[in-house]
Amino acid sequence: MKFFVDTADTHEIRELAASGLLDGVTTNPTLIAKSGRKILDVIAEICDVVHGPVSAEVAATAYEQIMREAAVLRKIAKNVTIKVPLTPDGLRACKALSSDGAMVNVTLCFSAAQAILAAKAGATFISPFVGRLDDVGHVGMELIGEIVQIYRNYPALKTEVLVASVRSPLHVIEAGKIGAHVATLPPAVLRSLYNHPLTDKGLANFLADWAKTGQSIV
Ligand code: E4P
Repeated sequence: MKFFVDTADTHEIRELAASGLLDGVTTNPTLIAKSGRKILDVIAEICDVVHGPVSAEVAATAYEQIMREAAVLRKIAKNVTIKVPLTPDGLRACKALSSDGAMVNVTLCFSAAQAILAAKAGATFISPFVGRLDDVGHVGMELIGEIVQIYRNYPALKTEVLVASVRSPLHVIEAGKIGAHVATLPPAVLRSLYNHPLTDKGLANFLADWAKTGQSIV
């Protein structure tokens, strides 16, 4: 399972990338606004640090303008993935961009029917938002299960299921059990995956016993 980090905070990205476990980055207009920086600068800096797919979202909603914005974003770096909304114009742009060799992430997916359309439009990634579905009383992970099951029926399909709006380690575990290709995690969730009190306790015990031996390995 690939891990992307869902942030435009380049300090966080640098730190997490150093783990060697980061496969890509997703951003959105809210995250860019939170960074307080210009989108072209932030995306360029992220692409320097992470060489996997880096999603940069268009702000336009009409096809022609989406294509104009995508052309600008694509020039930043080879690993820029154009993120488009799951709308008729967004999917039309997805089809045109993917046919032209661009990676495309179709965002704001909330149904299996939408995910089928995105795959037909040649999306590289479909981003179903599990946390936001949970927030309104639906089980977000059920949608992931449905989409993975449908995509598996068509082995030629290249679209990867990118679990988005992840809120907890449980979402990550469930996504892995279902077989989703990617999860994009807020930095805090990614860091929390390391934690277990028995790991801390066990390590403290080992170190205490080791100290008693008076040895050193180097
Ligand atoms: C995905 O690409 C989105 O940026 C993100 O996961 C949205 O998450 P949120 O619902 O926590 O804002």
